[in-house]
Amino acid sequence: MTDLPPLRLGIAGLGTVGAGLVSLLRENGAAIAERSGRSVVLAGVSARSPAKDRGVDLSGIPWIANACELARSDAIDVYVELIGGEEGPALQSVEAALEAGKHVVTANKALLARHGIYLAGLAEKQGLALNFEAAIAGGIPIVKGLRESLLGNSISRVYGILNGTSNYILTRMQREKLPFDEVLAEAQALGYAEADPTFDIDGQDAGHKLALLAALAFGVRPDFGSIHLEGIRRIEPFDFDAAEELGYRIKLLAVAIQTEEGIEARVSPTMIPKTSALARVDGALNSVAVEGDYAGLIILAGPGAGARATASSVAGDIIDIARDHISPPFILPVSKLRQQTRPGMSSHEGGFYIRLSVYDRPGAIAAIATRMAEQDISLESIVQRRAPTDLPGFGRPGNGAQSTPVVLITHRTREERLRAALDAIVEDGHVSGIPQTIRIEAL
Ligand SMILES: NC(=O)c1ccc[n+]([C@@H]2O[C@H](COP(=O)([O-])OP(=O)(O)OC[C@H]3O[C@@H](n4cnc5c(N)ncnc54)[C@H](OP(=O)(O)O)[C@@H]3O)[C@@H](O)[C@H]2O)c1
Repeated sequence: MTDLPPLRLGIAGLGTVGAGLVSLLRENGAAIAERSGRSVVLAGVSARSPAKDRGVDLSGIPWIANACELARSDAIDVYVELIGGEEGPALQSVEAALEAGKHVVTANKALLARHGIYLAGLAEKQGLALNFEAAIAGGIPIVKGLRESLLGNSISRVYGILNGTSNYILTRMQREKLPFDEVLAEAQALGYAEADPTFDIDGQDAGHKLALLAALAFGVRPDFGSIHLEGIRRIEPFDFDAAEELGYRIKLLAVAIQTEEGIEARVSPTMIPKTSALARVDGALNSVAVEGDYAGLIILAGPGAGARATASSVAGDIIDIARDHISPPFILPVSKLRQQTRPGMSSHEGGFYIRLSVYDRPGAIAAIATRMAEQDISLESIVQRRAPTDLPGFGRPGNGAQSTPVVLITHRTREERLRAALDAIVEDGHVSGIPQTIRIEAL
């Protein structure tokens, strides 16, 4: 070890991740000191309730009630923000730390997806680190992969399963053939889903992570507002059965892809081939894939959350600072990051799964096929299935006609063409309810 002074940490937030980090530093401190070339010490902690038992030894560590005060304290070199939330104490304390010349490590994707450019600007001005490995896919080292190992590549697509809660729900729905509401209630009872699960199941959490991934992969400003978000609430057990027969799995997939019109970035339920690596990423696991022109397809998988896995990523970021390994948060200086152009989903190109509830009348299927042909959409398959009793929108409507589910798989087409065809099909009156559409991603 060298004669470098210890690196002094101030940790704000002692919940799942903060307590996990304290435990990691206590357990692996000696090895970390050896690898960093200097010791890493806890110089201050902050949380809301000083009396709470956090299952870790905090004895001898100064308690600073106010996170901003800790962030500015002369007693620390690195401020570790593990409070969470995109505004309030997380934003204020990170701002305070950077203004006071402290390096920052955070696991907070919401904060960076909203304020990443502003905070990266503050860090850059003073040559400080703003490290966030744990903010994307918990324990998976994708930020370092993009920031360092893959820098020699031009990246064409980055995608992944970035939210463990929705992946857990979709996996249970697929395996147990249970409806969404039932699985969600079960996940909440087991503590896998929050009481308010909106953030996870409606795509925002994965969207925050995708905004950061896209910035790192494509040299653009992180822009959460430019991400198209669709959640998993509308997926029915019927769709899993159909996917199974057709050779697909349904995942909440986050994709950012360089197209001629800009960077298309979306989080939506997506059918992916059953044979692909991501199709086997089940339960609460996460996975991230990067396509580089020289590296080819790189796929990482592992725990996307949890005290230990997330603390592992935070510790890696701290060790980088201890080794004086500091690089711009989003690879390029802020002034060089491009403003993202948002092509919008109408220009998306790909295959689609469509489920229609078609009235049992002569000519209905032929009329649907005609509407598709009018938009130059070619169909890979069209299958009429027996109506399940529990699928909403099926059965005998007021006019006496029975409706049955019809599943169509399209070849590659432009999304605006598909929407136009479906509008015409609904207008023709051959279907009841709203067509279900799920994008198919070729992997
Ligand atoms: N949990 C994961 O697996 C995971 C994975 C990846 C990234 N992350 C990110 O890591 C961050 C922390 O998540 P978490 O799951 O550890 O959250 P958490 O368990 O809810 O912990 C939050 C902590 O922040 C403290 N806190 C709240 N307001 C504060 C304030 N004004 N000043 C100081 N401390 C304050 C809380 O104090 P009290 O304990 O006293 O209430 C608590 O200790 C979030 O940004 C999250 O998105 C989490």
